[in-house]
Amino acid sequence: MSELSVNHLLGIKYIKESDIQLIFETADQFKEVINRPIKKVPSLRDITIANLFFENSTRTRLSFELAEKRLSADVVNFSAAQSSVKKGETLIDTVNNILSMKVDMVVMRHPNPGAGVFLSKHIKASIVNAGDGAHEHPTQALLDSYSIREKLGDVAGKKVVIVGDILHSRVALSNIFALQMQGAQVKVCGPKTLIPKYIHSLGVEVEMDLRKALEWCDVANMLRVQNERMDISYFPSTREYTQLFGVNKKLLDSLDKEIVIMHPGPINRGVEITSDVADSKQAIILNQVENGVAIRMAVIYLLASKIKQ
Ligand code: CP
Repeated sequence: MSELSVNHLLGIKYIKESDIQLIFETADQFKEVINRPIKKVPSLRDITIANLFFENSTRTRLSFELAEKRLSADVVNFSAAQSSVKKGETLIDTVNNILSMKVDMVVMRHPNPGAGVFLSKHIKASIVNAGDGAHEHPTQALLDSYSIREKLGDVAGKKVVIVGDILHSRVALSNIFALQMQGAQVKVCGPKTLIPKYIHSLGVEVEMDLRKALEWCDVANMLRVQNERMDISYFPSTREYTQLFGVNKKLLDSLDKEIVIMHPGPINRGVEITSDVADSKQAIILNQVENGVAIRMAVIYLLASKIKQ
């Protein structure tokens, strides 16, 4: 397959396994490009991309902007905090105004689940979901799988446990879809209150005991507790959370095998993961960030190829 089956990247659940493999093969080529002394290619000189961020971001925002610039696209950045959204402008009006300036592609992070799907039905530009509430974060799941493939050779057949706040996590949902599509086994582990009731319907097992989960897996993806999405207390104290669901070096060293540690960031050091784990050779957290640029170059390049047809 030489082109994506979709015109937008709205979520992993809307794409096929063959799309994932095409994105990975394209990312392999871009990873080679970004390790050259001159890290730029002229592929998207005729494409303009708007990055619309209605929610905070460090990694995703910088990674998309870098990916776009390395493909030579024209880039405009929008942050809700400094925009007329604060004066009451609607999402559609904001985006239509930006599109009137002849923008071809919109990369959007938004607090509302489904914001990207909604937009794709109302505007002509290609939409990339950079995280929509607790729904999906497709490029994060793609870079996570790509990093597992790079570290362990393949995703198929691997055992991955996602630990922490599953309930509020778009990273968890996109990872579950992406990993299962590629033939990995997925379990989740965390406080009962932070495991969604529908998790079994996704074919995912729940393991409440962190040690057992780590003994089972090849890869542990540690998630942050998303306090900003919580309106009630989901566990008695951070101290108790860390005692039951935090990974420290002593626990890792007591396992009878070396597992891979991942984290999408931002990390709460000392809560879900200690510094000696985050900075250990078992952790591939900064590899994930590096791979994010190649993955986002691949996604943007492949979607732009469809615009140009
Ligand atoms: N992983 C991730 O989405 O990080 P940011 O919120 O900093 O973009």
